[in-house]
Amino acid sequence: MRLHLFEWEDQAWFPASLRAAMTSYLVTDYGITPLPRLWADCLSRFLSRDGVIEIVDLGSGSGGPVENVVKELAGRGFKTRVTLTDLYPNEGLQFKTDAASSMRYWPEPVDAARVPAALPGIRTMFASFHHFRPQLARGILRDAFEQGCPICIFEGTSRTPAAIASALLIPLFVLLLTPLVRPVSSVQILFTYLLPILPLLIFWDGLVSQIRTYSVHELAEFTRELQSSRYRWETGLIEIPRLPAGVPYLIGWPA
Ligand SMILES: C[S@@+](CC[C@H](N)C(=O)[O-])C[C@H]1O[C@@H](n2cnc3c(N)ncnc32)[C@H](O)[C@@H]1O
Repeated sequence: MRLHLFEWEDQAWFPASLRAAMTSYLVTDYGITPLPRLWADCLSRFLSRDGVIEIVDLGSGSGGPVENVVKELAGRGFKTRVTLTDLYPNEGLQFKTDAASSMRYWPEPVDAARVPAALPGIRTMFASFHHFRPQLARGILRDAFEQGCPICIFEGTSRTPAAIASALLIPLFVLLLTPLVRPVSSVQILFTYLLPILPLLIFWDGLVSQIRTYSVHELAEFTRELQSSRYRWETGLIEIPRLPAGVPYLIGWPA
């Protein structure tokens, strides 16, 4: 059963510096997993190599896996221009750009359930769809469907006993990987090693994220009323080599 428990990152009053430290850790965490490559594999099936692909990422945090996904896409010959957005934008993030990709962070808050018309493009959500309760989740899908916009939802968690149990390792990973976080802030170091509340906060949000993750069946159910010959949906599990649980995805695409 899915439980929509409390996550620190979702709270408007939560200190921006701690939220940024938590999402910066996530960026490093993705870097050691095969997820960016697997997500790029899945996305590639829908993309065209003609022209520049405009991507609007929702619930971006500190960028999550986007930079790595874009690099993977560039390696496959796709050119992209990405706009990162968040309800609580992480201001001041800098990204490397090259001939194949450019990235910017939208400075205004963007609610994933109400994407402004000023941001056209393929909508992506990496590890953020579980932040929305069913009614809002349906609203996000309906908005993309009615506007004829592609939407690609990828989760990095799954609501299986093995994945939920694996969350117990999060504090250890936070202690081991924090030296790799770039750029690293004094808040990151202070609250990881001197007063170790970040390992606990990240553990809690990681555990709750697994418990909140929609199953493939639930994702497909959300799309049941959003059917048209002009738009198609695909749901599935992305298998992760050597791990028992795959991670769910949902893609909506104009036919
Ligand atoms: C797990 S975090 C970061 C996700 C990021 N894509 C990643 O992979 O690291 C989830 C993000 O969702 C954002 N968020 C929460 N509610 C939101 C909403 N209604 N609209 C947009 N973003 C939201 C939070 O601010 C947070 O940055």
